[in-house]
Amino acid sequence: MSIDRVMLLDEHTANRIAAGEVVERPASAVKELVENALDAGATRIRLQLEDGGRALIRIEDNGCGMSRNDAIMALQRHATSKIRTADDLFALNTLGFRGEALPSIASVSHFSLFTRSEEEEAGIHLTVHSGEIESINETAMPCGTVIMVEELFYNTPARMKFLKSTAAELGRSLDIVGQLAVAHPEVSFQVVHRGQDALSTPGNGDSLAPLAAVWGRDTARKLIPVEFDGSGVMVRGFIATPEITRPGRSHELFYVNGRPIKNRVASHALEDAFRALTPESRYPVAAIFITVPAGDVDVNVHPTKTEVKFVRDGDVHHAVSQAVKSALLKYGIVPTVQAAVPDVAFGGAASHSPLPLFSGGSTRHGSMDANSWSQLGVERLETNVAIQPRADEPLSLPEEPRPFAELLREYQVLGQLQDTYIIAKTPRGLAVIDQHVAHERVLYERLTVSRNRNGIASQLLNPPVTITLERREALLLAEHTHSFKASGWEVEKFGGDSFVVRAIPASLSNKPYEQMLRDMVDELVNQSITRRLLVQQDHVLITNACKMAVKAGDPLTVGEMTELLQQLAETENPYLCPHGRPIVVTIGLNDLEKLFKRA
Ligand SMILES: Nc1ncnc2c1ncn2[C@@H]1O[C@H](COP(=O)(O)OP(=O)(O)OP(=O)(O)O)[C@@H](O)[C@H]1O
Ligand SMILES: [Mg+2]
Repeated sequence: MSIDRVMLLDEHTANRIAAGEVVERPASAVKELVENALDAGATRIRLQLEDGGRALIRIEDNGCGMSRNDAIMALQRHATSKIRTADDLFALNTLGFRGEALPSIASVSHFSLFTRSEEEEAGIHLTVHSGEIESINETAMPCGTVIMVEELFYNTPARMKFLKSTAAELGRSLDIVGQLAVAHPEVSFQVVHRGQDALSTPGNGDSLAPLAAVWGRDTARKLIPVEFDGSGVMVRGFIATPEITRPGRSHELFYVNGRPIKNRVASHALEDAFRALTPESRYPVAAIFITVPAGDVDVNVHPTKTEVKFVRDGDVHHAVSQAVKSALLKYGIVPTVQAAVPDVAFGGAASHSPLPLFSGGSTRHGSMDANSWSQLGVERLETNVAIQPRADEPLSLPEEPRPFAELLREYQVLGQLQDTYIIAKTPRGLAVIDQHVAHERVLYERLTVSRNRNGIASQLLNPPVTITLERREALLLAEHTHSFKASGWEVEKFGGDSFVVRAIPASLSNKPYEQMLRDMVDELVNQSITRRLLVQQDHVLITNACKMAVKAGDPLTVGEMTELLQQLAETENPYLCPHGRPIVVTIGLNDLEKLFKRA
């Protein structure tokens, strides 16, 4: 005789299991609660946290509130006002839809809810302990909702043990609120921790305001708008100019249809566009809003709803990549000496002076319309004015920058310093150009262009040269002979760890090419670990350009220097060398006036 052993779990147990997925730490509860407030149409969201959210998360919103019955319903699993049928999953316009956040949080905390909708005379106050409603009372309150989550994980000690320090947990909550705030410039957010203001946004509709609150005003000033519309994908957002990078992906914010997400395809497109501009192992700063038809994205991949699947990955990649690349080209920024100069000149007295700033413009508030996109904080080339702004000074800028390539044509070479730097007169001051990196950029782009056309001119070696490499070098070279070929090398495996070099790039004919080949393979060995995203073929080109370029210490004539600047002006990206180092540093007349105390 068989015994039946399978039975349904009771509701509380099921909720605790769901909580395991949805509520991993205080920040996940914060995320769910803030999303609910946004879905309720709130324009003002206040959060109070104690002990990083462990002891208390209190959230207050001025959204639509709930009726008595809805409030009771909302605490049951799979109860939601946001969808009715599975079809609605592909026409979502809310952040929530699973109907499990509130019951999950309530099952692992002491939970109370105050809520009042506009239609009700009074609000209601509900308390929940261990997932069971304990009391329901009427209460006087304005429209909206207040939720208090106390002693999170008091009944799940295992989960409690995994929590990090107060500061770390608070940091995660601030990241989450920041991400949502960036997508909602029209909502005013405030987070208070231990009585201190930890994050606040004005909610005045200015898209840069939450970014300034989250990343700081200096970074917000370096943001440039990105924009692309193509085959069912619209991209809007901001990226920081490439001199600002981060050691990890913490400042890569992506949104799909207003929802903060993590997505490999989008990240790759962004990083790929920055690849030649950012130094090794550094990541860009960006907030990218992707809009696709609701049916083209699946957000129901994971209970936390941060992973999504795009129906057409390729279109999304293309759109993000184009948006970022065209913005980088349009608004390249030349580094100026300005940040460093005051330290030298004034004995460090001005060491708190901010990064290069532009002079003020008129405040532009309002939603992200076409107009404000062109009004954003973009540093004008060579016209930096180091005025310490007032904290409320606007972040917008009246003028569009001129393309750097155009400015470069107005440079007039004055001479060479240390056989390393080209000194040029510009309409607005002085420019110092690193001759090696400038040439490197020129060569890199030539190599890329001719590779894309039909490969690079090579010169046959007669007789061919045989070289022997270390085992792992040999493996790498064998794997990459095609990319070497694309940049003019003809290298063939010869057996064992030996290779025959039959042809070299024509431009290397009078250089120590054998050593260069070894160096490049050497770099491939090191690079392959540190920079997984780097397309090796590009890396070969970068290294080739570097090896072929004039060196620091090579004397150049004025004619050669002028020619180099002309060539640089024709490159797609005259701002940074392929390794991400700046090519030009400018000293504006303004800076000189200040240094000489003429201002
Ligand atoms: N701050 C709020 N203001 C008004 N209504 C709310 C608020 N928070 C929750 N609700 C109501 O309670 C319901 C349940 O919320 P809950 O977060 O559990 O589920 P959901 O938001 O529908 O889906 P998900 O689990 O994906 O978040 C919501 O559908 C909504 O109707
Ligand atoms: Mg929800």
